[in-house]
Amino acid sequence: MDTVIARIDPSNPDPEMISRAGGIIRSGGLVAFPTETVYGLGGDALSGDSSRAIYAAKGRPSDNPLIVHIADMKSIGRIVKKVPDEAYALAEKFWPGPLTMIMEKSDEVPYATTGGLDTVAVRFPSDPVAQAFIRAAGGYVAAPSANLSGKPSPTSGKYVVEDMNGRIDMILYGDDSVIGLESTIVDLTGTSPVILRPGYITLEMLRSVLPDVSVDTALLADDDKTPPKAPGMKYRHYAPKGDLVIVEGERPEVIQYITDKLAADASLGKRTGVIASTQTASSYKADVVLDMGDASDHDEIARRLFGLLREMDDEEVDSIYSEAVSGEGVAAAIMNRLLKAAGHNIVVLGDIQA
Ligand code: TXA
Ligand code: MG
Repeated sequence: MDTVIARIDPSNPDPEMISRAGGIIRSGGLVAFPTETVYGLGGDALSGDSSRAIYAAKGRPSDNPLIVHIADMKSIGRIVKKVPDEAYALAEKFWPGPLTMIMEKSDEVPYATTGGLDTVAVRFPSDPVAQAFIRAAGGYVAAPSANLSGKPSPTSGKYVVEDMNGRIDMILYGDDSVIGLESTIVDLTGTSPVILRPGYITLEMLRSVLPDVSVDTALLADDDKTPPKAPGMKYRHYAPKGDLVIVEGERPEVIQYITDKLAADASLGKRTGVIASTQTASSYKADVVLDMGDASDHDEIARRLFGLLREMDDEEVDSIYSEAVSGEGVAAAIMNRLLKAAGHNIVVLGDIQA
């Protein structure tokens, strides 16, 4: 299939391009589009055939439900049974933005979109290109991240082209994603709201609106044995081709540990990579050293992380060491993605339990 690659200026999106993209969705096709979190791979959320086409293009298991993207609050009524009070409260504060809410689905949403579940994930993105596109597409766009299954979510149009060229009808190629991590997912179908996937909207921020928000215990378990409630969270994600190890501890110990490992790997003829903070990057001698950003600037690290994992693949390194990121909030979301990428391979220095 020929994929139309349309450059789009976010400050002045070409209405003709947007309406062409919307028309493709209305006639059952697929279009990748920018959002503030990561690029999405869109299809008509109310068409089972479109959702099946999304799974096929991504190479994704079809029990992994899709997020339905809307472009105004009033659209929500058609796709959910009832909008819970909590949803209004969270929407008031965080929509449009990087928050996805799970509610009971209406009959209009096909099971192909929800992976067979009676619930639906809904997000109202803030990105102006995304909003214009969703409106042009008829108001309901099902979209997973626009990567091939297993790869890091694309945070730049060039990664979407890498993964999706020839597989979908059109790519709206805008700016790099400003957040760089997928949306926070909160489940509103239980007795109290539960975070199923951490993201830029943090536990603390959600609790400022709903004090009883908690975190899915499977996320806290920090292993691959407890099945998480968001079906997509159980799949191995983002894994680079090289072996990735995360190293956590005091800075001098981390540098020493990684330095020793690099020397050992190099003596075995391995090609090595390090993902380090701006403060420590110059301490390492590896084939590839990538700067994740200032250690205290978690927004910057979030923005860069998925691109760095892809760069390591391009560099064809055999072993990768990444410094851990410490702190709450966005740091927790970063560590959640890093741990997945590493298959939970983490070394905690100075911790007898490690
Ligand atoms: O930021 C984002 O959320 C991006 C952009 C494109 O909006 N989208 C995204 O979609 O990350 P995806 O498909 O890569 O991840 C969706 C996650 C999966 O882990 C899936 O299992 C979960 O949401 N999910 C979707 N519907 C669900 C439901 N009804 N119940 C539980 N989890 C659900
Ligand atoms: Mg994804």
